[in-house]
Amino acid sequence: MIYAANFKTNHTRQSTQKYLEALSEKLHTKKTEDKVYIFPPSTALDVYSGDFTIGAQNAYPAYNGAFTGEIGVEQLDEFGIKTILIGHSERREYLLESQEKVAQKFSFFQEQGFEIIYCIGEPLEIRQKGFDAVMEYLPAQFEGIDVTYENLIVAYEPIWAIGTGRSATVEKISATHSALKKEINDKPLLYGGSVKLENLKEITGITGVDGVLVGSASLDADSFSKMVLS
Ligand code: 13P
Repeated sequence: MIYAANFKTNHTRQSTQKYLEALSEKLHTKKTEDKVYIFPPSTALDVYSGDFTIGAQNAYPAYNGAFTGEIGVEQLDEFGIKTILIGHSERREYLLESQEKVAQKFSFFQEQGFEIIYCIGEPLEIRQKGFDAVMEYLPAQFEGIDVTYENLIVAYEPIWAIGTGRSATVEKISATHSALKKEINDKPLLYGGSVKLENLKEITGITGVDGVLVGSASLDADSFSKMVLS
């Protein structure tokens, strides 16, 4: 299983350090086949030791240059970071990242050999139209994306389940994941959207779910480590 923690705009450099110290102590007993990823805010990126991989929530598709407010590969290289989240719905929605921009970013980081966790997900109005509408909507988020890329992990995060405390039902996750698996050549597929200790087992027990991408419930090191070790 893959357990990925997306801190979003939470935690400071200091609290991330404390979190990762606490987490790495707990992870001594983790199953070797399980993988843990942490995506802290960019001000907290650094070299940390522990049985986890640190990734960037975002970066600009350039090595360096005149891109005010952004970080590029040079800043990630300093900490040996080779993992990145691309296409998160919050960036698509609030930062107005179009599919074209997302695809450009993907191609750039693919060329750089990054491991990419590529996020897709439908809004509520599409889900309300039913499964066929969802399966028309989601494939459009693979436009310009090389789904054969060897370092690709996909995360399905229905927007209506993010931060709401209510995850998608087992039936919806199961149906969507089995349809998506065909689109993505059986690449690892995570589910995200209100995953917490209480619903973790039923979600990770679904065929076609290879792990979880966790927001709110990952912010506390103790809770997140309980999820990883459960
Ligand atoms: P929540 O777990 O807070 O719903 O967030 C999910 C998410 O967006 C992870 O990327």
